[in-house]
Amino acid sequence: MRIPRKMEHVQYALQLGQSGEHGFGDMKLVPNCLPGIASEQISLHTRIGELSLSSPILINAMTGGARETEAINRELAVAARETGIAMAVGSQMSALKNPETASSYKIVREVNPHGKVFGNLGSEATLEQALRAVEMLRADALQIHLNVMQELIMPEGDRDFRGMLERVRTIVENVGVPVIVKEVGFGMAREGAEKLLQAGVRILDVGGSGGTNFAAIENARRETPMDWLNDWGCKTSISLLEVLETARRGGQEAAVIATGGISRSIDICKALTLGASAVGMAGAILKVLRTEGTPALIAFILRLHDELRLLMTALGACTVDELRNAPIVIQGETAAWCSARGIE
Ligand code: FNR
Repeated sequence: MRIPRKMEHVQYALQLGQSGEHGFGDMKLVPNCLPGIASEQISLHTRIGELSLSSPILINAMTGGARETEAINRELAVAARETGIAMAVGSQMSALKNPETASSYKIVREVNPHGKVFGNLGSEATLEQALRAVEMLRADALQIHLNVMQELIMPEGDRDFRGMLERVRTIVENVGVPVIVKEVGFGMAREGAEKLLQAGVRILDVGGSGGTNFAAIENARRETPMDWLNDWGCKTSISLLEVLETARRGGQEAAVIATGGISRSIDICKALTLGASAVGMAGAILKVLRTEGTPALIAFILRLHDELRLLMTALGACTVDELRNAPIVIQGETAAWCSARGIE
């Protein structure tokens, strides 16, 4: 029997790994020789839209829908519960179409009844499907993913991208929980972010390139790979600056999440210093879980928290909000891109 697509995604994500070319190497945090605070004052609490989170790190959407993915979701939920971080499930469309697979998603809420859990659907979803996805998990928020290039590379993928923005707008206005619109590793740029903000979206996850590469994953699944698309997309650092500037210029109260290749505390700190309200991790979390197991994943997340506290102490920032006042220097390709696009 053919391996279900969901497990192929997991396997290829692990096999192909992460390029690490997320652009945060172009940035340097400026040391503060007089931070004037104590480590015990540090709070990792953050807000994204109406959501209050005890950590700026979240486990981003990955899986569900096949038997083996239920075990992955269960272990991710254990790690989220034990570390107090938020977690998104993978696209729930399969459970809406085949209700017998719903248990692979519901397990996340069963394991972590009081944690922050996010649902996930694509932009083809209707309002009725969005309401069902939220209800399935008693979700605290709903993610809507945008993955145009992934669909185009998949032979069985979508070819009709009409009406996406209108469906997103309808869901934002009526679904009853905060909506996070996210990319999956190709990055968002100013033009798309602007339209999403105008449609009422208040939480954007840039989902930039430099980590899990869905062009490479879909090409690995294709009989006739289109490898020339493997470097499609906008690096996470660049995408973050594009979207942050758009939100600032538009004057809307929007929260931005940085996802795409993040695996180290220093890059989390850089993203928060630039102005992200939270940081999403998918591939790096999956790798630790599958190669080292759940206790190692819990230890990994706790170590990221400890290291983030250390960095915040060094920078003199007691809170995620205060980190935004810390200076950061942007050089290299990220700086050149920003200058070419007029991003300050
Ligand atoms: C994903 N991602 C994803 N995103 C989404 O919105 N719905 C989904 O169903 C999936 N499925 C999925 C499967 C697997 C195996 C991986 C690794 C990832 C994308 C994910 O949420 C994230 O945006 C990207 O992976 C980029 O982040 P990383 O992996 O570079 O940290």
